[in-house]
Amino acid sequence: MKEQLSALETEALEKIAQVEDTKALQEIRVAYLGKKGSLTAILRGMGKLSKEERPVVGEMANHVRESITAALDEKGEKLEWIALEKQLETEAIDVSLPGRPVKVGGPHLLTSIIEEIEDLFIGMGYEVREGPEVETDYFNFEALNLPKNHPARDMQDTFYITNELLMRTHTSPVQARTMRANDGSKPVKMICPGKVYRRDSDDATHSHQFTQIEGLYVDKNVRMSDLKGTLDAFAKKMFGKDREIRLRPSFFPFTEPSVEMDISCKVCQGKGCSVCKQTGWIEILGGGMVHPKVLSMAGYDPEVYTGFAFGMGPDRIAMLKYGVNDIRQFYTNDARFLKQYHQV
Ligand code: PHE
Repeated sequence: MKEQLSALETEALEKIAQVEDTKALQEIRVAYLGKKGSLTAILRGMGKLSKEERPVVGEMANHVRESITAALDEKGEKLEWIALEKQLETEAIDVSLPGRPVKVGGPHLLTSIIEEIEDLFIGMGYEVREGPEVETDYFNFEALNLPKNHPARDMQDTFYITNELLMRTHTSPVQARTMRANDGSKPVKMICPGKVYRRDSDDATHSHQFTQIEGLYVDKNVRMSDLKGTLDAFAKKMFGKDREIRLRPSFFPFTEPSVEMDISCKVCQGKGCSVCKQTGWIEILGGGMVHPKVLSMAGYDPEVYTGFAFGMGPDRIAMLKYGVNDIRQFYTNDARFLKQYHQV
């Protein structure tokens, strides 16, 4: 019986050493250690042994069971490792593959220009304000010295929503709104960028919706020379030191006197070309001294306070600065156009 046991041990250990998958290993476990297994069968024969022999054979049988169990467990673990390694190998991620490029957006060209202009004026002590795009007739016209039926209303063809509500035709209503909110005694120094709307037929230089930046400075002793100095500083910073500005007399109902500002043409250096229509100058804004009536309607005493205001077109400025020849490019959002101006 001892020989039987040791032969069984050798045989089992050999089989375990050779086996290569967990299922076969499990079969070996059942074949030797299971209820109907070979070891169990041998042990059943123990009854026939003498009293002296029984404990010796019993101990040996235990030893054989332990050694087979240990070999089975060890092999089981080994096979699991091998299986895991195989899985890792087949499911491995190739980290050397180049990644897919992520498309990164950027600010719209007009947004960049507006922010650049905002920064310039913030540097000169201006606050940035906002106003509604759907505006009342009062703020868009009346508070700016344009009573109903005033012929100058025709200068700005208007989208009306009702008799009293309209899409603002300029950012100037924010002048009146800001002054009003300031109770007639505090100085005002603000710029206001925003969208404006006019009933124009769209073409290369007109868009029914475009942008403006309004500027307003009200205080005691604000003079025309302050306006000129401010605009000159702005133009030089925006377009370069070699640019010159020119103020021409003009008319706006809400400023008196009124001016329009031209900047010397960059393309021909003032000699005259198609961009500046052979004049050497390009108009970029309107402005003037705030009309006394506008001041008093907003609660400021025109005998004490004076101010200047201006309105410029960032579209125009962007077109000039970057050589864009069609204003509609800003509003049709063709990514091929826009991404040329993304600053990284
Ligand atoms: N609001 C005027 C326009 O749209 C521009 C302007 C602003 C003129 C402020 C004078 C003062 O044409």
